[in-house]
Formats: sequence, structure tokens, C-alpha cells
Amino acid sequence: MFAILGRNSQSNYPILLGLGEFFGALSVLFVGLFFDKHVYSSTYNWTTDPFTFHPLMMTTGLLFCYGNAILLYRTFRQTPKLTVKILHALFLILSLIFGAVGFTAIIRAKILDNESHFISFHSWLGLLTLILFVLQWICGFISFLFPKLSLDTRTKYMPTHRFWGKIIFLSAVITILAGLSELGTFSSFFVKDDAERKRRLIMNFFGVFTLLFSLIVIYLLTNPDYQRPPDEDTDQRIQ
Ligand code: HEM
Repeated sequence: MFAILGRNSQSNYPILLGLGEFFGALSVLFVGLFFDKHVYSSTYNWTTDPFTFHPLMMTTGLLFCYGNAILLYRTFRQTPKLTVKILHALFLILSLIFGAVGFTAIIRAKILDNESHFISFHSWLGLLTLILFVLQWICGFISFLFPKLSLDTRTKYMPTHRFWGKIIFLSAVITILAGLSELGTFSSFFVKDDAERKRRLIMNFFGVFTLLFSLIVIYLLTNPDYQRPPDEDTDQRIQ
């Protein structure tokens, strides 16, 4: 696909971003359908079945909102940096809220079912992702927004912030794919049984769209052609 599009950064970026958003939206739609009342008996209910909210909230927050948050500096290359910074922070706040609801949902579900916590690989990786995400959020907020550290410290910290930003996204994607496989195994719908066909298809398409969205985000994020050019005068004005 990238070979067909060539490497003209300016014109390809919106096309790839559009495709990415399409796959990202489908990923959220398919994970949401998983506990839809037309598909499954156990539908969204915070009181009796809080688990149903976990995959949807986590995917919306840590995949879709977070993926968009880390692309914003490239998406709005011409917009003043301060505006993009605020947008970046807003998307990350959204991500944090969805993540917090998703995490509360699984903790509540396990307490209700009297199940042990943090025993699977998915849960370990998920917990690590959430801890890294919160640490990155706090360090970024203090360094770049409030109280805002010196220009020298921010310049030194920036590569670390960028590095961990990508690691957290990757870690969220792996966690989601591990969660998906685990849920499939738990629910035993990966069996030759036509009653489960619909859910199996939804789950597999969810995985495919998640992967496609992530690949596009990673491609856009790591391709130097799409990097925001340094805008020193804007940086100077917002000191
Ligand atoms: C980045 C996104 C995600 C994060 C950070 C995350 C995090 C977690 C954590 C920390 C737990 C363990 C809670 C405890 O033991 O008390 C958990 C459990 C679980 N999650 Fe996720 N999750 C994510 C996405 C998903 C998705 C998309 C699915 C399903 C499609 C899923 C399915 C499950 C299942 C079935 C459990 C219960 C079994 C277990 O503890 O492993 N998760 N998740």
C-alpha cells in the first residue's frame, strides 16, 4: 500500500491518516458490538456485569484516543505548537478517563465474581501499560504544561518522552491482542460451533482492525518525512 502511495509526505499523510481513522473507528465499533444485546445475552450493565465495559473502554482510551493523541503534532503541522499541546493534553485526558473506567470495570467484575487479580500475562502487561501511561502523563504535564520546566530540561527530556510514548502505544496494542485471545479462550467461542459464529467473526475483525490501525499509527509516527518541522519562533513565543 505504501509503495503504491509513494513517499510524497505532504499528500500521503491525510490519506493514510484517513485510512487509520477508519480502521480505528471500526475497531471501537467491533469491540463495542461484542456485548451488544443482538449478539450476546450478557449486555452492558455496570451493576451486574461490569466486565462488559472493560474491552470497549480500554480500546477507546488506550488505542483510539491515545493513538490520535500521539499523532497530533504530525496531523496539525501548521497549527501553533501551544494549540497542539493543549489538544494533545485533552486527548490524553480522554484516554486517561476511558482507561480509568475500563480498569475500574475489570477490578469490580473480579471482586463481584470473587476471582483472583493479576494472574494472567494480559493482566500483568495491562497493569504495566497503565502504570507507564500514568507516569508519562504526570511527567509530560509537569514538564510541558504546568509548572513547566526550563527550556533546557524540556529539550533534554523530549526524546525520552517520545520514546516512552511509542512504547506505551505498542504495549497497549499487545495488551489488547492478548486480552482478545484470552477472552476468546475463556468464552470458548473459538470452537466449531455455529451458535458462536457471529461473536467469533466480531472478535477476529476487531483484532484485524486493531492491528491495521496500529500499523498505520506506527508508520506515520516513525516516518521522518511526516515529522513536524522545528518551529523555533513559535517555541520562543510560548516560553
Ligand atoms: C490496553 C488495553 C487493556 C488494558 C490496559 C487491560 C488491563 C487489564 C488488567 C490490568 C486486567 C487484570 C485486572 C485484575 O486482575 O484485577 C485485565 C483483565 C482482563 N482483560 Fe484487559 N486490558 C485491556 C484490554 C482488554 C481487551 C481489549 C480485552 C478483550 C477483548 C480484555 C480482556 C480482559 C479479560 C478477559 C480479563 C480478565 C482475565 C485476566 O485477568 O486476564 N482486556 N485487563
